[in-house]
Formats: sequence, structure tokens, C-alpha cells
Amino acid sequence: MATVTKLSHLHLLLLLFLLLHLLIDSASAAYPIGVNYGTVANNLPPPQQVAKFLKTQTSINSVKIFDANPDILRAFANTNISVTVTVGNGDIPSLAKMPAAQSWIAKNIQPHHPQTIIRYIVLGNEIMATSDKVLIAYLLPAMSTLKSALDQAKLTHIQVSTPHSLGILSTSEPPSTGRFRKGYDKAVFARILEFHRQTKSPFMVNPYPYFGFDPQKLNYALFRPNPGVFDAATGKNYTNMFDAQLDAVYSAMKKVGYEDVDIVVGETGWSSAGDPNEPASNLENALSYNGNLVRHVNSGKGTPLMPNRTFETYIFALFNENLKPSISEQNFGLFKPDFSPVYNVDILNDKSTPGATAPAASPAAPAPPAPSASAPGPGVVRGRWCVPTRGASDAALQANIDYVCGTGVDCRPIQQGGACFEPNVVRSHAAYAMNAYYQANGHQDLNCDFNKTGAIVYSDPSHGACKFSVEGESVRLEKSESALGRWNMLWTVIAVIVVVVL
Ligand SMILES: *[C@@H]1O[C@H](CO)[C@@H](O)[C@H](O)[C@H]1NC(C)=O
Ligand SMILES: *[C@@H]1O[C@H](CO)[C@@H](O)[C@H](O)[C@H]1NC(C)=O
Ligand SMILES: *[C@@H]1O[C@H](CO)[C@@H](O)[C@H](O)[C@H]1NC(C)=O
Ligand SMILES: *[C@@H]1O[C@H](CO)[C@@H](O)[C@H](O)[C@H]1NC(C)=O
Repeated sequence: MATVTKLSHLHLLLLLFLLLHLLIDSASAAYPIGVNYGTVANNLPPPQQVAKFLKTQTSINSVKIFDANPDILRAFANTNISVTVTVGNGDIPSLAKMPAAQSWIAKNIQPHHPQTIIRYIVLGNEIMATSDKVLIAYLLPAMSTLKSALDQAKLTHIQVSTPHSLGILSTSEPPSTGRFRKGYDKAVFARILEFHRQTKSPFMVNPYPYFGFDPQKLNYALFRPNPGVFDAATGKNYTNMFDAQLDAVYSAMKKVGYEDVDIVVGETGWSSAGDPNEPASNLENALSYNGNLVRHVNSGKGTPLMPNRTFETYIFALFNENLKPSISEQNFGLFKPDFSPVYNVDILNDKSTPGATAPAASPAAPAPPAPSASAPGPGVVRGRWCVPTRGASDAALQANIDYVCGTGVDCRPIQQGGACFEPNVVRSHAAYAMNAYYQANGHQDLNCDFNKTGAIVYSDPSHGACKFSVEGESVRLEKSESALGRWNMLWTVIAVIVVVVL
């Protein structure tokens, strides 16, 4: 008996060390996820508040804007959050001439350098999709003139690119067939890609499974489990549409000989609301898409044709923008104008969500540790699990087990011989059953209430061969860099281990 106790304590310590290690690692790692800070709205907070919010409350360290708004560029000074600025479509033809390019930089970039980190200057937005022959003709000349002007101004670190919609491809399915539109492939894209190769800048694309998915393949678009799409030409099996779209772009680049050029995802996202004829535009799908996207990108797995590559990815968008033309376009935001998150509001309100007027408020006084007060690592997307609260009685937990197992949830794992039978205690069995119920019922907070005996945690309670299911993902862009945040997380971790392992 004594040995068993000692062993489990050792186990606990080891786990703690491991988790602490993970915490520290994740806090210092750089994340490839940025956001598009669009401003087609009349109710957004002032740029200084936005910059402060992103800096203090999220792990976002890069934003992309759709103009060169000096107020925004000033707001991000000394934040270490990089800004990608956009040259308006209409300015493209004039920037093909050196004096104009020089004065554009003198006016829009130099006043902000170096206090504001400017990462890319992108020319226009999806110019090829405008079919405007003048803009298309001037696009590359303007890009190279602007790059030369930057070099002359000793701003050599700023790269130049232009975002493309996937409409630049004439075919994209299966991915190996991806190719640029005829007539543009050599005349336009090979030359743009040559510019990128020479200047070591990325080819920027805006893949949107949201706009291209087949309703039959919604799970494929949302990175959820699905049968996959097989590409016979390459022998690759695609399990999500984002990878397929990127690989179609890669195939097109390869056909013109430029597969070595980097790819940056300038925009991607999913709307959380829409008209009745847009049933896929809902909160759950937006959460699923963006949550899985962040996790997928951060995993560093790459795509089937580009393994182990991490694509810098800008989610569209930071805010819901109320002056966009349709309901679905108004609802691409991760946050509402008052900084409250569009998804998972109830959970984020727990502690780290700043109030409407106080995005930069200093951390609140330490709250007593509670399972629901957890703050996952920066930019890390984790699942949510449902476990018993520490105060719950065995009788109440047994009632939960009886209830859950009576609803048709598979309780075999907690029966004798099942992977989660040990430790054979009510609390541990209840954790398994309550979580299984929560996951099976759409992972709404309500489904983890259990008469106040259940609480949501962000750490996987699985142990050994006992795997707790997880279907709900959450977009966690909250920062847990402060000592306070980390302590809360540590307490949560301890609470979960104590609850589940012991
Ligand atoms: C600034 O951000 C970069 C990554 O974006 C990071 O490597 C660096 O440590 C940060 N510097 C400061 C002073 O926070
Ligand atoms: C593709 O992957 C899915 C999901 O992993 C799997 O169910 C399917 O059998 C695979 N198809 C092929 C042809 O490998
Ligand atoms: C990708 O990473 C995996 C695991 O580290 C490795 O086994 C594989 O060889 C890598 N593939 C490429 C193409 O680099
Ligand atoms: C929840 O608690 C109330 C009051 O303690 C009790 O009457 C009720 O039966 C409980 N419900 C369940 C589902 O356990």
C-alpha cells in the first residue's frame, strides 16, 4: 500500500514537472498566427485600445491592415506586434514610378519606423480577381518599384507581396491538378513568383474553405473527422480542405517552376452567423474552423505536399465589422467591438476577458483557484473537458454516472476490464462519464453543469490507456504570460490531477 502511494506521488511530481516545462516552453515560443484588423465598422474601439488589448490579452504578435492608417501604425508602436500594411488598389498604377513609390514610403512608412514593426507591404487586395487590366498590368511593376524604394530608404527588411484569392487557379481539385489560369500562368504568375524568389518574399494567398465547400463535405472543410479526399496522382489523402487548397496553390507554383517560394496565408476564416440560407455560418462551425486551423498551423505538420512547413496565417478577422454588406460578412470576427470574444464567451468571461471599457486593465486580484479558471497557453488551441468539481459528493457523482450511462453514452470503459476502470473510485468514473456526456452533447457549458458538480477544464484528463474524448475546440488567443495567469494554470493542473489521478 505504502509503495503504491509513493509511486502515485512520484507520478504526480513527474506530471507536474512535465506540465511546468510545457508551460514555460509554450510561453516563449513564437506563434505563426496573426489577425486581419479590418475596420469596416462604426463601432470599433480606438486603435490604441486595440493594440493594448492584443498586447496584454492575446498571443497575437502580427496584424494585417487593409490600408496604411497612421493612427493604427502609431498605436502599434513599441508593442512588438508587427503590422502588415496594404496599398490601396487605386494607388497601384502610380507606384510603378519611382518618385511616387519613394514619396509613398516617406509618407506612410518612414514616420513609423522603427518604433512600429512593419512586416510586409502588400499591394492591393486580390487584384487578379478584379479583372481590371490596368491594375493587373501595373501590379508587378509597382511591387518591384516599391521594393527598390524600400531598399533605397534602408528598409530592406520590409518585404513586398500581394494577396491572391484562390480564383487565380483554373483547377484545384484534386490538389495535384492545381494550375494558374491560362494566359496568366507564365505572363503574370511566373514573373510575380520570380520577384518573390529574388526578394525572398512570400506568395500570399487567401484560402477560404468557407466559400468553396461542398455541403456534403462540411466536416472536410471544418477539419473534423471525415473520410478524406484521395489524390490518386500523388497518393496523398487529404483530410481537410485548407491543406487541399494550399497544395493546389503549391501544384500551380510547381508547374511554373517556383515551388521553392514561401507561402503566407493572408486571410482565412469562417463566419459565425448568416442568413437562413447560410446554415453553415454559425458559431459552432466558426469555432471549429478557426480553432482547428490554429491548432493545425501551430502543429507544424504542414500539408501532404509541403510536410513540416509552418505557414504564417492571418485569420480574418479580428472584429465583427458592422458596415459589411451582409450578415455573414459582418460576422467573421473573433471579437466583438467591446473586446468580448464571439465564441466561448461564457468561459472567457471567467477572468481574462476585459470589460467593455477596460481592455488594458491590470490583472484582477488573484481569484481562488478553480477548475474553470484555467487559462491555456498563448495561442494554443486546446480542447475542453468536463470533470467533477472538487466539492462534489460521491453520492452526487454516482448519480451523474447513473444518469449519463442511462442516456446511451458508452460507459464500457469504466466497467471492469475497461481502460478507465482503474482507479476504481466513483470520482474517477464520474469524470469519464461526465466528460463523455459533455462531449456527446455539443460541449455546451450547460452539459457540464450536473447540478453544479461539473466544471470545464482545459487540460486533458486522460491517463494511461484511458482516453477522454474531446470534440470541442476553442480558439484560445488569450495570453497567460503573467505570473498570475501561470499560477492559475498551475493550480488548475494540480486540481485536475488531484481530482482525476488520485
Ligand atoms: C518580439 O517578438 C518576437 C517574435 O515575434 C520575439 O522573438 C521577441 O522576443 C519579442 N521581443 C520582445 C522584446 O518582446
Ligand atoms: C483517408 O483518411 C481518412 C481519415 O483518416 C480515412 O478514413 C480514409 O480511409 C483514408 N483514405 C485513403 C484512400 O487512404
Ligand atoms: C517531417 O518530420 C518528420 C518528423 O520529424 C520526419 O520524420 C520527416 O522525415 C519530415 N519530412 C520531411 C519531408 O522533412
Ligand atoms: C439537483 O439538485 C436539486 C436540489 O439539490 C435536486 O432536487 C435535484 O433532484 C438534482 N437534480 C439532479 C438531476 O440530480
